[in-house]
Amino acid sequence: MTTKVLAAYATKNWSTAEIARTITQVLRDEGHRPEMLLVGDVVGVQAYDAVILGSPLYEGRWRKEAHRFLRRESAALSKRPVWLFSSGPLDDSASQGDVPPVPAVHHALIRINAREHVTFGGCLRDDTRAGSPKRS
Ligand SMILES: Cc1cc2nc3c(=O)[nH]c(=O)nc-3n(C[C@H](O)[C@H](O)[C@H](O)COP(=O)(O)O)c2cc1C
Repeated sequence: MTTKVLAAYATKNWSTAEIARTITQVLRDEGHRPEMLLVGDVVGVQAYDAVILGSPLYEGRWRKEAHRFLRRESAALSKRPVWLFSSGPLDDSASQGDVPPVPAVHHALIRINAREHVTFGGCLRDDTRAGSPKRS
């Protein structure tokens, strides 16, 4: 069955967008219909069969806009399969084993009854900047 999947992501320096792009590509290769959007650009999740939501960690937290999205869409999210991911660790911990979600994300996972959480390694670019992401 073809599934319409939303890959929603927050980012500051765009490396999490690359992770979302890779997930989207894998889903497309498997015959699903993925759509990749910044969390702030998602109007609603009603049109999707499943949702993947990810955010980088900064100072031990997900980005605010990812939490805002979770709060706003929590009722609809709890009615469909959801997978969460974090990006962050700059060492090899994420490839060595499971890195559990930070507490607020763990609580969100339980609240919306998400299927799973995965942590991917992050990266720091030379041009890393503070503040909100700027569209390229
Ligand atoms: C100021 C700062 C704080 C960070 N804090 C964390 C953290 O608490 N935990 C973590 O795993 N990674 C942390 N990182 C690493 C970022 O999560 C990583 O660089 C990630 O790939 C950034 O994603 P983005 O490019 O989508 O913004 C931090 C990076 C910076 C620059």
